[in-house]
Amino acid sequence: MVAAKHNLFEQVYACLMCSDLTEKIQRLDNLLDDWSERRFEFIPLQKVERIPDPGRPSKPELVAPKALIRRRVGSREGHLALMHSIAHIEFNAINLALDAIYRFQQMPIAYYQDWLGVAGEEAYHFQMVREHLYHMGCEYGDMPAHNGLWLTTYETDHDVMVRMALVPRTLEARGLDVTPPMIKRLRAIGDHRGVEILKILLRDEIGHVAVGTRWYRYECERRQLNPFDEFQRILNTYFHGDIRGPFNYAAREQAGFSEQEIAWLKSIEKQTFDFNDD
Ligand SMILES: [Fe+2]
Repeated sequence: MVAAKHNLFEQVYACLMCSDLTEKIQRLDNLLDDWSERRFEFIPLQKVERIPDPGRPSKPELVAPKALIRRRVGSREGHLALMHSIAHIEFNAINLALDAIYRFQQMPIAYYQDWLGVAGEEAYHFQMVREHLYHMGCEYGDMPAHNGLWLTTYETDHDVMVRMALVPRTLEARGLDVTPPMIKRLRAIGDHRGVEILKILLRDEIGHVAVGTRWYRYECERRQLNPFDEFQRILNTYFHGDIRGPFNYAAREQAGFSEQEIAWLKSIEKQTFDFNDD
């Protein structure tokens, strides 16, 4: 008997909007199974919804970034706050990957395979960090969190090229820079499991940024745009923060940053240091 086919976009939308943690992870597992069994068809939906609020549990409470507890690992509270913020990023990253599939329905099949794979790894990350938090006496949702990652996702829902440039290649790429110093700090306080988890996260996130690079370039090529110039234009138009070093050049190179982009980052890092020297 041939199993019935499902429409990928409908199933992904249901998982994206699901707010119950257990059910969401179960739905994602089903998506991955259905993918490996080739049970999907790809029928663009009549209407693609904008999503100001994707499925997430009622807690954590979302607050302004300034209202968050300082994440200094020297105190137990700071250590928990750091781990909690990582759990929140990983949870959000599941939704980011699902939204990249649901929203952009005219991409090659390899694009959906890439992003579904990312969603699966993010769920694995989230569960590892959540379990570690639990052993430390804290549940995901016990502390407040901020919604910056989703806001940028929402603001880039009109164009896959802008989305790839800003979400994986800017916000998630920042994770590559800040994770090694976090690993050092956790090692210094003897959180060995935390160190182990962050190493796995760093390794996998290089792959996720590389997925962003791959599809960003694909779109530039399709539109006959210069990827370097276009990236600068997108940052100037849509990015509200600062691009700040220090940068993890080795990881960024592995994630597909070009020689020209690396040289540009080096010039920013130099400016930062020159400024600090004054
Ligand atoms: Fe992750």
